[in-house]
Amino acid sequence: MALLFSHYSPGTTSSNKGIVVTLPALALSALLGTALLFFLFFTISSNSYSYSYSSSCSCPSSIQNGVVVYSEDDNGNRNTVTPLRTTRDDVDWVKRQIHENGLHMHDNVLRKGINPRTRAQQLDDFRQYKGISHYEGADSNNRTALPCPGELLVEEHHSNYGEPWAGGRDVFEFLAQSVKLRPESRVLEIGCGTLRVGLHFIRYLNPAHYHCLERDELSLMAVFRYELPSQGLLYKKPLIVKGDDMDFNKFGSEVTYDLIYASAVFLHIPDKLVWVGLERLASRLKPYDGRIFVSHNIKFCSRLGGVECSKRLMSLGLEYIGTHTHDSLLFNHYELWFEFRRFKA
Ligand SMILES: C[S@@+](CC[C@H](N)C(=O)[O-])C[C@H]1O[C@@H](n2cnc3c(N)ncnc32)[C@H](O)[C@@H]1O
Repeated sequence: MALLFSHYSPGTTSSNKGIVVTLPALALSALLGTALLFFLFFTISSNSYSYSYSSSCSCPSSIQNGVVVYSEDDNGNRNTVTPLRTTRDDVDWVKRQIHENGLHMHDNVLRKGINPRTRAQQLDDFRQYKGISHYEGADSNNRTALPCPGELLVEEHHSNYGEPWAGGRDVFEFLAQSVKLRPESRVLEIGCGTLRVGLHFIRYLNPAHYHCLERDELSLMAVFRYELPSQGLLYKKPLIVKGDDMDFNKFGSEVTYDLIYASAVFLHIPDKLVWVGLERLASRLKPYDGRIFVSHNIKFCSRLGGVECSKRLMSLGLEYIGTHTHDSLLFNHYELWFEFRRFKA
């Protein structure tokens, strides 16, 4: 693990003027220095990646209690770590912004400078008028590096899963904290769809550390032609492969994952295929610390009966650890997650 810490002291300036130091002041500095060292040691040894809800720090979010958290990528470059979760502080801050601006919810109807359109209307407008200004003539298409289909531009694919797109962030925060995700971690998603969840992992992880196997072509078009470019995440070069038969050969034989997850996927797949997937993935999960998370239900297992299910998992070197729920930040909803680990090397 490559985590580095350095002390951050906002507003500290150096001065060249001479300073007279008295003995009590020296003793006090020594005391404070020892306390700081003790504090730093405690912070580092407790490996504090996650952000405390009780934290009252209003400093930049990559700073925890005065300590800047860094990670190192594969090339040894130092990057500040993005927080894994929304803190109580963040929530209080945004509530204050809403309050101080005197904001209330209103109907979204035509008003000065605002012309609300449904996705269908927006797509129709786009096809008919292409917006207010656009290039005409023979070379008009040369002006766009990655021409994107209109359906994707109006984000029709954000409504593909019957629940708010924003739920993807909740899933990320839950999984990321569960495995103490680091930028160096390696993650495989089975059935990433249009990256509702995956985008958050891609943004957080080092380039090429997010992998996905997805069978749906339209979803993959949305991923490559809209989501990654529009989020400025092409440079992260996630390895996303089209496939429906649990063939993970294209992901390389060397890589082992810190997290393998399937969000709302295994319930749509025949049990037999799920087991094929688990058989192939068991050896690709990091022993002991690596985790497999499956959402909604594990009927592929329970349909075998409890004893048989445990035996089958055990034969793959896997064990069921427990069931979890996590709440949503934005809507009244929770999801069920089933956690597994590899119990032998
Ligand atoms: C309900 S969507 C969930 C998408 C994404 N995981 C999410 O939470 O937003 C289920 C996804 O699983 C994919 N899928 C279903 N069977 C699959 C298979 N055998 N291999 C890979 N992907 C599959 C579907 O194409 C779809 O994108």
